[in-house]
Amino acid sequence: MKNINLVYGTMNGEAKFVASELSNYLTEKSANHPLYEPIELSGWTPPENELLIIVCSSTGYGDLPDEIYPWFLELETKAPYLPTLEYGLVGLGDSSYDIFCGAIVQFETLLADLGATAIQPTLKLDATEHYAPERDAEKWLSDYVTSL
Ligand SMILES: Cc1cc2nc3c(=O)[nH]c(=O)nc-3n(C[C@H](O)[C@H](O)[C@H](O)COP(=O)(O)O)c2cc1C
Repeated sequence: MKNINLVYGTMNGEAKFVASELSNYLTEKSANHPLYEPIELSGWTPPENELLIIVCSSTGYGDLPDEIYPWFLELETKAPYLPTLEYGLVGLGDSSYDIFCGAIVQFETLLADLGATAIQPTLKLDATEHYAPERDAEKWLSDYVTSL
């Protein structure tokens, strides 16, 4: 299995928790899976031969959490084209807000613009319906992992 890089963006810790649970799941599967803190991402371009997983909540008006926003901008303005990069996205949001899961949709658009390929459709978890987002995210990732 290729190296899996886990990245998260959070305001109040839920996305970090979900990413940590995915990390625990990957430990059980013996996958190599560094979990990056948002502040560690400055200057980091996801390696194309490794899988990128982003777990990100939305804040404001479909906006990215503060700590991960600089990395998003960096990718948007400086990243090279990444046509062989594979990625998977997990969005945490709340459908009572006007722009549901806006932050992960921004990542979706950006990665598509960079030529990267999604391993499966973005998982968008609605806090009004998904009371254990970590379990839904694990199931989503296991669909991919078990297909390898
Ligand atoms: C101030 C605030 C603004 C939010 N704005 C949005 C939004 O625009 N779109 C959305 O889908 N969810 C929005 N949410 C819901 C959060 O994304 C959701 O509760 C998520 O689980 C929080 O995860 P976190 O603790 O990792 O930040 C907002 C929540 C708060 C508190």
